[in-house]
Amino acid sequence: MQTLIKNGTIITASDTIQADVLIDGEQVALIGRNLPQGDATVIDATGKLLLPGGIDVHTHLELPFGGTLSSDDYFTGQRAAAFGGTTSHIDFVIQPKGGSLKEGVDAWHAKAEDKAVIDYGFHVAITDLRDEVMAEIPSMVDEGITSLKLFMAYKGVLQVDDTTLFRAMQVAAEHGLLVMVHAENGDVIAELTDGLLAAGKTAPKYHGVAHPAMAEAEATGRAVALAGISGASLYVVHMTCEESLEQLALGRAKGFRVMGESCTQYLYIFEDDLARPGFEGAKFVCSPPVRQPKDAPFLWKALADGTLQVISTDHCPFWYQGGVDGRIPGKELGKQGFHNIPNGMPGIEDRMAVMWHGGVNGGRYSPNRFVEITATNPAKIFGLYPRKGTIAPGCDGDIVIWDPEKEHTITAATHHMNTDYNVYEGMTVHGWPEKVLLRGRLLVDGDDWLGERGSGQFLRRRPFGEVL
Ligand code: URP
Ligand code: ZN
Ligand code: ZN
Repeated sequence: MQTLIKNGTIITASDTIQADVLIDGEQVALIGRNLPQGDATVIDATGKLLLPGGIDVHTHLELPFGGTLSSDDYFTGQRAAAFGGTTSHIDFVIQPKGGSLKEGVDAWHAKAEDKAVIDYGFHVAITDLRDEVMAEIPSMVDEGITSLKLFMAYKGVLQVDDTTLFRAMQVAAEHGLLVMVHAENGDVIAELTDGLLAAGKTAPKYHGVAHPAMAEAEATGRAVALAGISGASLYVVHMTCEESLEQLALGRAKGFRVMGESCTQYLYIFEDDLARPGFEGAKFVCSPPVRQPKDAPFLWKALADGTLQVISTDHCPFWYQGGVDGRIPGKELGKQGFHNIPNGMPGIEDRMAVMWHGGVNGGRYSPNRFVEITATNPAKIFGLYPRKGTIAPGCDGDIVIWDPEKEHTITAATHHMNTDYNVYEGMTVHGWPEKVLLRGRLLVDGDDWLGERGSGQFLRRRPFGEVL
């Protein structure tokens, strides 16, 4: 099957070109002016932009967390991603305590296989680094998994100590794996949490008090230093504030192999949202927490100037009112204490639009830089480039036909994520996907879903090399 997309403007990280794109089977075959139609199905993209399919490298579908599961599975979460212009994502496998990495990987394959509708890869999160698990790490490369994640927070659940982190970095450096960290000082957070609860401070807003910016900055600085000592390549996930950006910038200035991402919510949602009346702040509980409005300009600037390389979502949705109408439990689990609120927010569907709106329309960066942080850098850093992350002959036909004029009001009433709220509720953006193709097949056409369960492919990723 051939598809010819005519009259659009192709935006890549480096170029803006008015040209037609011919997709033959699953790959882009030709780019040129006035390409002949032949037997191809024609899509007219006059006035539209052709963007590489978005890649969200930080998601948690069906994640067991805080006594429940994140509420999007591989079908609902991926379909929502596609509606928003994201055609690939990388999800976190969690090693079961006492179990092997492979057991975790098998469990995540089982969640994804029959449901997937976009392409996906895995990172593996190490929770229990016994000697045999240490020896198992290099085999992850054969599984197509070339990034490890370690949590420096969530004491007693996911947190690892510095010995574990450092050992993992040494093995990763030797075998071509990238180390990712959730950088917050979990010991400090646990102490602050106990103190707040003892003082009867149980409302959602105290989640933010228990997770100060300096606890994130301290852990970021520590991880950066350990990466420098071990020679590992490091990627700091969900960076939120000026203080931790300073630590990353310091490591980069020293020539350490360190990179970072922020997530969309940290640009738009702030402490005041966490302090909304009653229990509503629970909707915005995630870790690290949302910060002060003064931090957002630092994040936007870091995304524009290359201090940060990627924008992702940390999509980890929970019902606000769970446990009713057949829903699994959600945020209400923490009504008696903020420490029991499942951590995470929905966002996989809205990433491309809110980053276009605030970034390109907001005059903070160019359309090319938008492509770079939403698709090209994610593909390069995580071993998917050039199959994914750009539009060029030979790469997958993952193309978003983007209507930069389209006005769209984000609301839970029409979104496709399996949650009863949207953190961007009521926000009107300009720029939304008109059509979304994955490997040459139309998945989304306006409001219509054309995808097929089970058609998403597992992405085996190359060993890690490039530091941006
Ligand atoms: O609050 C969050 N971020 N939930 C998901 C798990 C994590 O820390 O990434
Ligand atoms: Zn995290
Ligand atoms: Zn996460």
